[in-house]
Amino acid sequence: MNKIFKVGLIGCGHIAETYFRSQKYFNNIKIIKCADINNKAAKKCASEYGVKSLRVNEILRDEEVEIILNLTIPKAHYEIAEKALLHNKHVYSEKPLAINLKDGKELLKLSKKKKLYIGNAPDTFLGGGNQKSKELIEKNIIGKINFGNAIFAFPGIQSYHPNPEPWFAKKEGGPVIDMGPYYLTALVNLLGPAKKVSGRIIRGVNYRTIGIGPKKGKNFKVKCPTTYLSTIIFESNTVIRLTLSFDVMAHQRNHIELYGRKGSLVIPDPNMFGGSVYLCKKLGDKWKEFKTTKMSLGKINIKTQSSRANESPTNANYRGAGLSEMAYCIEKRKKHRCNGELSLHVLDIIESTMKASISGIPQKIKTKCKKPNKLTEQEIKKLLI
Ligand SMILES: NC(=O)c1ccc[n+]([C@@H]2O[C@H](COP(=O)([O-])OP(=O)(O)OC[C@H]3O[C@@H](n4cnc5c(N)ncnc54)[C@H](O)[C@@H]3O)[C@@H](O)[C@H]2O)c1
Repeated sequence: MNKIFKVGLIGCGHIAETYFRSQKYFNNIKIIKCADINNKAAKKCASEYGVKSLRVNEILRDEEVEIILNLTIPKAHYEIAEKALLHNKHVYSEKPLAINLKDGKELLKLSKKKKLYIGNAPDTFLGGGNQKSKELIEKNIIGKINFGNAIFAFPGIQSYHPNPEPWFAKKEGGPVIDMGPYYLTALVNLLGPAKKVSGRIIRGVNYRTIGIGPKKGKNFKVKCPTTYLSTIIFESNTVIRLTLSFDVMAHQRNHIELYGRKGSLVIPDPNMFGGSVYLCKKLGDKWKEFKTTKMSLGKINIKTQSSRANESPTNANYRGAGLSEMAYCIEKRKKHRCNGELSLHVLDIIESTMKASISGIPQKIKTKCKKPNKLTEQEIKKLLI
């Protein structure tokens, strides 16, 4: 039996529910206490899930807590992760690692110095969809991958989110920081690290209007670019054209397509765990579907639409898998998959994409990471209840 790690959650917002639910799937994590800068939110969360609420400084000092689960807003990820490490706790944060590379590097340095684990979402690349794709690529089914396309594009969250301003803020706003982590982590998992990026931006409207909630009808200023068209070159020399936009009313493109010498592969939504992979090896042939619903982290577990953002009515969502795998690796003294080097590299691609696109000057990616090892069914079964 695995050791069950006692987790202290900081940041009792929307995504907290998904992590409480993850305890139904994974056998080695137990959220025992929660805290939030907004004490009311912490109290509400505590009574809903039967855990104890504390002040942020109390949970950091709490002797029972072994891992801090950092579900605060991106701008606060650095501050909370740093405090967790300084209080001798392992830390696992939601994406992104930090809102700039400098802060991300500091966190890795501190975790090494303290000999503590630092982990980071997204963990969706551990899901059936991306793992099945990885298996096919590593079997060389489509041969050397020359290039590919990836896209996340929608009109933005202002119509259905009561507080959309942070998504359009100067430093931490825009689609690259928000959705880039899913796409880039999935691509690094499939292709390995990236080495160079170029791009351009397209400016959207200067003001947006809030569509729901108490501020409905209020206009707010857009302080960041909202469309990025970038070209990323990986160490393997695969070239990916990546579109990330909050300015597209609708589109019908696949999330990720990879084109190899021997065939083409369609990769499912990197923001989710499941979805089918499609393969075509000859012009005009029917695309072959590889379902992932029988894989442990591909089984449909979402059957009703909830208010949680980013969850389609039927899909597989096993957020928390990365935290559970990190806990397992702490116990076994192994390297975890959602590790600091991977999230720092992804943050580097994010920052470089924004720099290259805004300035028009291509940027070298300075950090390196190892392509994560495939997560086998055998390994994942050890973590499941
Ligand atoms: N909502 C989603 O569907 C979703 C999905 C995947 C990932 N995420 C990520 O999860 C994180 C949280 O997102 P959310 O939607 O739950 O946000 P949210 O705004 O609903 O909740 C964040 C919570 O953090 C608290 N907080 C902010 N700064 C703090 C600080 N310094 N100390 C302690 N608490 C602080 C806030 O009071 C709030 O309760 C973000 O990094 C986001 O990118 C969200």
